[in-house]
Amino acid sequence: MKENQQKWWHKNVIYQIYPRSFYDSNGDGIGDIEGIILKLDYLEKLGIDVIWLSPVYESPNVDNGYDISDYYCILSEFGTMQNMNELLLESEKRGIKIIMDLVVNHTSDQHPWFVEAKKSKDNPNRDYYIWRDPVNGQEPNELKSNFGGSAWEYDENTNQYYLHFYSKQQPDLNWENAEMRNSIWDMMNFWIDKGISGFRMDVIDLIGKDPDHLIKENGSKLHDYLQDMYRNTFGNHDLLTVGETWGVTTENAKLYSDPKRKELNMVFQFEHMQLDKVPGKQRWDLRKLELVELKNVLSKWQYALDQEGWNSLFWNNHDLPRIVSRWGNDREYRVESAKMLATLLHGMKGTPYIYQGEEIGMTNAAFTSIEDYIDIETQNIYKERMAAGFNEEEIMKSFYMKARDNARTPMQWSDDKHAGFSEGKPWMKVNPNYTSINVENALNDSNSIFFHYQQLIKLRKHNNTLVYGSYKLLDSEDKSIYAYERILKNKKLLIVCNFYEHEKEFCYPITHHSEVEILISNYIDSGSDIKNIKLRPYEAIIYEISEGEA
Ligand code: GLC
Ligand code: CA
Repeated sequence: MKENQQKWWHKNVIYQIYPRSFYDSNGDGIGDIEGIILKLDYLEKLGIDVIWLSPVYESPNVDNGYDISDYYCILSEFGTMQNMNELLLESEKRGIKIIMDLVVNHTSDQHPWFVEAKKSKDNPNRDYYIWRDPVNGQEPNELKSNFGGSAWEYDENTNQYYLHFYSKQQPDLNWENAEMRNSIWDMMNFWIDKGISGFRMDVIDLIGKDPDHLIKENGSKLHDYLQDMYRNTFGNHDLLTVGETWGVTTENAKLYSDPKRKELNMVFQFEHMQLDKVPGKQRWDLRKLELVELKNVLSKWQYALDQEGWNSLFWNNHDLPRIVSRWGNDREYRVESAKMLATLLHGMKGTPYIYQGEEIGMTNAAFTSIEDYIDIETQNIYKERMAAGFNEEEIMKSFYMKARDNARTPMQWSDDKHAGFSEGKPWMKVNPNYTSINVENALNDSNSIFFHYQQLIKLRKHNNTLVYGSYKLLDSEDKSIYAYERILKNKKLLIVCNFYEHEKEFCYPITHHSEVEILISNYIDSGSDIKNIKLRPYEAIIYEISEGEA
């Protein structure tokens, strides 16, 4: 990539904080902004450059802050605007930037716009939302909510239905309304002026919705809205913008992230995150992951965005199960497999994202009773599937594997009571394995997953091949090894990962003039003779190969 096209966020690693579960500073059982400030030194030690902060705005918390009732105000459980300013200041001192979650596909039903809109059909805010008359006394059409049930909710007062793609307490905004869009630009500029470094845009591919034609994602006006947003908000600032786009394809990812189009820097694509469900079904309909498919999908994205656009790289976020439980081994090979998955991802081209707790190999929640799950999605799906006659054991098994609360249990700081997360009773149960899996232990062990992440982050800062080298998949049909190269001029990286626990041989042809160096590995004594390596369970190595003179 030409020097003048290089961006700061090409070389950065982002760390996502889910504030409610990160660190509680005042013993009420709920993580807060002050708690984040207290842990900034920890994040500095890990070496991350940017924090993506999940929503901290005023919210009735039906969907843990993704239902915002005031974009200009901090939720009192989390602190005050004063605390937020302090967080920005204290992060900056440590060279850490903050990007905010931008949730503008919908608001809370408690947002003053919706409270007004509900009052009457001719209320000035009515058209900020999407209202339709009943059809034959029923919902206007068969659109479904992503949290189960119809996407339409009846409002008795005005005898119309309003649209909600999430819970009925999250009414969808009407992006056709120019005045509404202008209010959003004002709000974004307020935060930009505060000194934030960018936005993660919640379900942004839905804003072009066309409910009358049953269109949710990728509506025809989506990209016009984003270009309009760019011009009116961050266009003149050097910010990081990343869109959450569940329905994106490699083709339309370029529409979002090709710099010439002036939209976003990158999107989160979720194609690889859907490989362990029955195709065409919901993610609760489980299927085993095939490594060859994972290689196909990730490689397709690497190739497609090599020249135009940019990839974001992630295994986890607050909506996804813990990767070490999902595709690693959270029992006897927890450490090895967590490091392997980290190496595999951080070796690729794009901007890596780490979700809180991933860096110490936190595992799924291990909740066995439906009462332990707090998430509205899980509760709704449970009712829906029970009513539809699914087997309860099957439902619970799918939650065990996929429920969002798997990622939301409190951060495990130490083996103190409540995992050192809070002096009081945590809002959600801590994972009982906190006595062994915790930050304190990780920091006391130079071979921990934490230090492996630290090393991967450091590598990215100094190794241009890791940032800009082109990707090339090797042995696409191999069912247990994921190996690829990154190539920049006469430098090459070889990333080799054994994805499973059985030993496997790997051969790489090489001229005897080449010099080979191991940059990172999850075993202390990995082999450097890459013509033939015997990979141990979950062994993962990055080699640097310099071509010598023939
Ligand atoms: C996104 C968020 C998720 C939320 C939903 C509705 O997918 O990541 O947590 O429930 O949007 O805002
Ligand atoms: Ca608190």
